[in-house]
Amino acid sequence: MFYSEDLVEDVRSRNDIVDVINSYVGLKKKGNTYTACCPFHNEKTPSFHVSRDKQLYHCFGCGAAGTVYTFLQQYENYTFPEAVEFLADRAGITLPRREMTLQERRDADYSSALKEVNKAAAGYFYYALRQKNGEAAMHYLTGRGLSEETIHRFGLGYSNLYRDDLYQYLKQKGYDDRLLMDSGLVRFDERQGVTDVFWNRVMFPIMDLNGKVIGFGGRVMGDGLPKYVNSQETRIYEKRRHLYGFHIARRSRRQGFILCEGYMDVIAMHQAGFDNATASLGTAFTIQQAMLLKRYTDKVYLAYDSDGAGVAAAQKAIPILREVGISARVISLEPYKDPDEFMKNLGADAFEERIKQAESSIMFQVRIAAGHYNQQDPESRTRFQQEAVKLLAVLQDPLERDNYIEAVAGQYFIDKKKLTDSVNRYGKYMTEQKQYQEAVKEEKPQDIRRQERVRQRKQQPQRLLLTWLVNYPNELFPQLRGRIGPEDFMDPLYQALANQLFHQYEINGTVNPAAIINQYEEADQQEQAASILQTTLQLEPSPEDNSMVITEIVRKVKEESLQHQLTHLQDYNKLQDIIRLKGQISDWNISLTCG
Ligand code: CTP
Ligand code: MN
Repeated sequence: MFYSEDLVEDVRSRNDIVDVINSYVGLKKKGNTYTACCPFHNEKTPSFHVSRDKQLYHCFGCGAAGTVYTFLQQYENYTFPEAVEFLADRAGITLPRREMTLQERRDADYSSALKEVNKAAAGYFYYALRQKNGEAAMHYLTGRGLSEETIHRFGLGYSNLYRDDLYQYLKQKGYDDRLLMDSGLVRFDERQGVTDVFWNRVMFPIMDLNGKVIGFGGRVMGDGLPKYVNSQETRIYEKRRHLYGFHIARRSRRQGFILCEGYMDVIAMHQAGFDNATASLGTAFTIQQAMLLKRYTDKVYLAYDSDGAGVAAAQKAIPILREVGISARVISLEPYKDPDEFMKNLGADAFEERIKQAESSIMFQVRIAAGHYNQQDPESRTRFQQEAVKLLAVLQDPLERDNYIEAVAGQYFIDKKKLTDSVNRYGKYMTEQKQYQEAVKEEKPQDIRRQERVRQRKQQPQRLLLTWLVNYPNELFPQLRGRIGPEDFMDPLYQALANQLFHQYEINGTVNPAAIINQYEEADQQEQAASILQTTLQLEPSPEDNSMVITEIVRKVKEESLQHQLTHLQDYNKLQDIIRLKGQISDWNISLTCG
């Protein structure tokens, strides 16, 4: 831990979990808790709960759970110290400078060194574009209709004709060969020694969310091949996680994002005023990129090239977007090839119109499928209808499904009732398949499953006891004194939690579950702990029944503990004590007044 426990707790207690989470997902008040659709999985009815009393959250759908720290670790991908820093800042608390571990410092230093090198290179390319040598490159860019301002905003540049001038420049700035090689800007080979990777190209710096340069794409000026050379992946540059132009697009005031295929498309769109345009980086669109978009919007317009490759790419992107809960719409650029060409020919107003007319992804998919079949031939028509059924069955929302069935039926002259029946049948079949596959996946060899069941059954009382202790500390702790203690919790995680709860009660006369969870740095440990401490008990209607339940739980925990001591007994003098205790347990009665 970098910060003291007290400090971590202080920072946590000054950031109300409801306020913090509410700034990311809109929470609705519902009795004592606040609910929303879970930001960690795709759902339509809210099962994500945040409790102000307990300062914890929990999703009944996917099991995500924890404190305000866990939330930030899961949502923002922060490390634990980063989450502390963020919240301290939010609450106006000044933190002491933290000590990093050696490895952490090395990693952080190396990543920032890589960013520094990229930044220096971007500066060098930018400068070169404005020199005499860069005239042809500047001419190329302005010839493609880019304004001075656009060229500046995207930090475009030029890599010289010389084989190693960037290398010489960076070396003279003091960066060592290893770092430069790792940055992907220079390479080494036996014959030529160290040379630049980018050579006589217009340079597109690629930036992360915060506008820090992490790599480059370099385009040949004219028709040479390859058209683009791109930075290799590095520790700071993972193509599947970044989007071109996103540092600007994410701050756009326009609704949704426009997803394009290329660097030039994004730039042309921004120049025309569509500053919500972004693109994947010369690779297929990924689920990580979809999740990134989903953090800002659930509306995405696809403005992919209108050729076969663009249509194929759109067909791949649609299910990925749907996976994270984004319904895509497809913009038609016809008769032009790509957004860049469209802008040049028809301009921004016409594009605005195309946005309005954008086709829903389902209708797009069905239309493309229709194009593959001959509607005059009965057999071919049947196969088209089967395709359509499969596409429509993906829609989960009954109303949405029905609307699209109606639209498809109307447009392709299919009987609506027949289509509805087929879609529902297929949908049901798919759901069953999925359930079956999940069941198969969980299938394990008999003995492992049995062992697990035994383990879970044993832990159940321990887990329940912890939950009761959190919910009724004042009634329970005094009655447990002398009977049961943290050492009676056999499971390591439960024991750790019990230790803290007993300790807290001892010192403060009350318990503070959120403070306990602070002490776990890993999000999944926090999650496990939180799901135990957060659970609300299903109370029986009468205090008598509740007393019976808790008595049973306490006895079981103690019995297991004694049994464990017996089987691991080394000091036989204790044998008597244990046996005597075992006899007494059945006389224990814990009483509760709640119900
Ligand atoms: N791409 C690449 N390598 C290539 C070709 C393409 O990495 N050899 C990537 C680039 O990210 C490019 C995108 O795929 O931006 C789309 O390709 P394309 O449409 O050919 O390029 P544009 O950027 O649209 O360039 P231009 O308009 O100049 O043809
Ligand atoms: Mn293109």
